[in-house]
Amino acid sequence: MRSIRFATVAVATAALTLPLMAGTATADPSAGRKAAPHPHAKFDRLRAAAPEGFVVGTAVAGGGHHLEQDYPDPFTHDREYRKVLARQFSSVSPENQMKWDYIHPERDRYDFGQADAIVEFAERNKQVVRGHTLLWHSQNPAWLEEGDFSKAELRAILREHITTVVGRYAGRIQQWDVANEIFDDQGNLRTQDNIWIRELGPGIVADAFRWAHKADPKAKLFFNDYNVEGVNAKSDAYYALVQDLLEEGVPVDGFSVQGHLSTRYGFPGDLEDNLRRFDALGLETAVTELDVRMDLPESGVPTEAQEQKQADYYQRTLEACLAVDGCNSFTIWGFTDKYSWVPVFFEGEGFANVMTEDYVRKPAFYALRDTLKEAREEDCGKKDHGKGRKG
Ligand code: G3I
Repeated sequence: MRSIRFATVAVATAALTLPLMAGTATADPSAGRKAAPHPHAKFDRLRAAAPEGFVVGTAVAGGGHHLEQDYPDPFTHDREYRKVLARQFSSVSPENQMKWDYIHPERDRYDFGQADAIVEFAERNKQVVRGHTLLWHSQNPAWLEEGDFSKAELRAILREHITTVVGRYAGRIQQWDVANEIFDDQGNLRTQDNIWIRELGPGIVADAFRWAHKADPKAKLFFNDYNVEGVNAKSDAYYALVQDLLEEGVPVDGFSVQGHLSTRYGFPGDLEDNLRRFDALGLETAVTELDVRMDLPESGVPTEAQEQKQADYYQRTLEACLAVDGCNSFTIWGFTDKYSWVPVFFEGEGFANVMTEDYVRKPAFYALRDTLKEAREEDCGKKDHGKGRKG
């Protein structure tokens, strides 16, 4: 059940954001006038507004679809991007830079350059890192997917990869997406397109967790997927699998929902219930890739109602996570539309992030900030009474 505090946040946020929406997506609240200093300027930043122990993250743009665009690598070339990245967030996730095709481009060669740079940036800026990802059906290098390996060789390749990559960053990664998207939307294991499960059977998933745990006993090890926000066939499949693995003593620490949402569909109102059932198994939970895309009008500029609906989806996702004790990591999949993967994958859709291409904050940004602030204040109140967040 959502607590009363969130009902009050919704009202406060709507009141606060409406005037800013009066223009369009390009209306910068600070443009053309000097804004009066905010009485709590520190809490203007998402990371500072958050309750203690609750991290607010973003994907770090690079690789993947960015390679097809005409801009240079965002993380290494865009100074404003880096500034916002450092100021606003307390957790970072490499968008592509730790995936197999980047970090292990040849059988006997690893390329840690981009991943190292992100981890070092995070440490300089007192941010934690979510590692993404170790066992996936996508973005595997051709040498692996098209190689002619025996089962024993494949198993050795995966073990070596996990041991090497997780071992390299041991003690420096807070959470690892060990297994990414291993079920399809019907809740069937991907026995065809996932090379590991196809060739080595489902037991390889447990081994991946065991190897990762051995390489970094402190990192929290997660299952991560999309379309598992609500209670459905796919999240049920994870729920069943996780129970079996926990019974076998496999070191699974968490279940995370990516959160690639669209205003075209209804909000998954059972998100909190879903997180709670995994929480009840003793797992941590997390939101790892939230963005909220929408169908763009011909003008390309969303209406106020669209922006408000988007803000509402962001807010409700955050509220669900905040309401669950063991959900202490909340990550958005990029913060500026400038580098979003959405228009590349979904024709006619976009505007999915909390800032415009020019880094202007949208109602969604303020909804997150205010919701975090409210939760922080409530937690401070609870602490005074000897209670706080767990985990
Ligand atoms: O495979 C081709 C390759 O042959 C070609 O040389 C290269 C250069 O143009 O493109 C390659 O495909 C690209 C792929 O990344 C691998 O680099 C795709 O075009 C590109 O669109 C793709 O984008 C990434 C996508 O994952 C791949 O699934 C996005 O940047 C990244 O944001 C996205 O992130 C995923 C998470 O990891 C998991 N959850 C869903 C999320 C959104 O799709």
